[in-house]
Amino acid sequence: MRIVEYPHPALRYPAVPVKLVDKELRLQVGRMFELMYEVKGLGLAAPQVALPYQLLIMNEDMENFSEEGERVYLNPRIVAQKGTMNGEEGCLSFPGLFAKVRRARQVTIEAYDLSGELVTIQATGLASRCWQHEIEHLQGKLFIDRFTTVARIANQRELSYFEKKFRRAQEMGEIAPDADIEKLLSNLEQEMART
Ligand code: CO
Repeated sequence: MRIVEYPHPALRYPAVPVKLVDKELRLQVGRMFELMYEVKGLGLAAPQVALPYQLLIMNEDMENFSEEGERVYLNPRIVAQKGTMNGEEGCLSFPGLFAKVRRARQVTIEAYDLSGELVTIQATGLASRCWQHEIEHLQGKLFIDRFTTVARIANQRELSYFEKKFRRAQEMGEIAPDADIEKLLSNLEQEMART
């Protein structure tokens, strides 16, 4: 498992609801935390590790990343939002890329935890930004989709660099062709739907 970078097809693949939490999924979640800590991320969505599931992880202790702060959320949705804010945002699938993105200042989220309990979360500020960003990952949306025209122009070179790097890795055989990746995602999706 590794964090995939833009324009990996998994990042554009709409994730399916998680219907079963088995041992394998718990292992995958554990590995996701390791990966998130390696790169000091605030949150990580399953599509970023090429798993097409509506699952995301966060550490609510955004200062110390203690074990007590670890959260896993399944099938989350934003049920209410309030206000707007503008601020710098980045994404683990775009290392080194940061731009101003407008978000709701406050969001209310409903999600399930790993034990299947429905939880309601209120988030403001940075946590709110994180939630909106991660939930969009589950819909195949990326923060670059929210760039202003100015931000898009300013980061055009950077984005085409990501694209070139990815295509080169595919040509070298380090990353599978898009069609193979999509087949894999579709298989995982169908497996989850059948359970
Ligand atoms: Co991201």
